[in-house]
Amino acid sequence: MQIDVFTLFPEAFDWFCGQRHVANALCAGSELRRINYRSHTPLSGGQVDDTPFGGGAGMVLRVDVVESALRATYGVDPATLPGERRVVALDPAGRLLDDALVDDLAAEQALTLLSGRYEGFDERIVEHFCSDRVSIGRYVLAGGELAAMVICDALLRKLPGSLGDQRSAVEESFSSALEGRPEYPHYTRPAEHRGWRVPEVLLSGHHAQIANWRAERSRARAQQGDGPAACPATRSSPAGSQGFASGSLP
Ligand code: 6GU
Repeated sequence: MQIDVFTLFPEAFDWFCGQRHVANALCAGSELRRINYRSHTPLSGGQVDDTPFGGGAGMVLRVDVVESALRATYGVDPATLPGERRVVALDPAGRLLDDALVDDLAAEQALTLLSGRYEGFDERIVEHFCSDRVSIGRYVLAGGELAAMVICDALLRKLPGSLGDQRSAVEESFSSALEGRPEYPHYTRPAEHRGWRVPEVLLSGHHAQIANWRAERSRARAQQGDGPAACPATRSSPAGSQGFASGSLP
């Protein structure tokens, strides 16, 4: 897969690109390019943004600057791009990222992510150059870089060769293998710690029973929410009152 991230802060991705599963995906043939809008601005002094028409706080990424960066990268009129490839505007008000959208994007050969800064994009950028608007949650980040990394992280670990054992990406929380449910709990050695024992079935070696137990635990988590039962400090609401979707702990 070829991913192009347009950003004002390409160096923000240095750490991310060194992460094992990202490096593995890159070795296995994927590509992650970072393109700095500022390197392509037609304006003097490296200007990339401007104050909003109509007044208001903050700065808005300019449409001519983004056009110039896209044109230099792809060699075509960027208004034709949305018909050819997925061009995603990273926008807090966009479609919420979930496992299904990650699968959808991971199936693409090529993907473009546009990070905004300040107050975001001139709307004409999204309207004419983008195929999608994607958000990673209902809160506002100072820029799209972290959202771009979240999307790339979720995507790249789905690609063959990125994880040590690709089975990790198949039966995991929210996957279709678990019918969209959260994953079952995991345990490792020691089998007992301070009297807290690992469920016996996991030590039994009965694969069918283990599979049944895991499916049952996954279903229970989906129904009632999940979290350490004795962890009141992290509770945000009364036990189980909002279920899993709210992320509250029972
Ligand atoms: Cl995609 N961008 C920004 N700036 N903030 C966000 C976001 C994206 N998703 C959630 N918050």
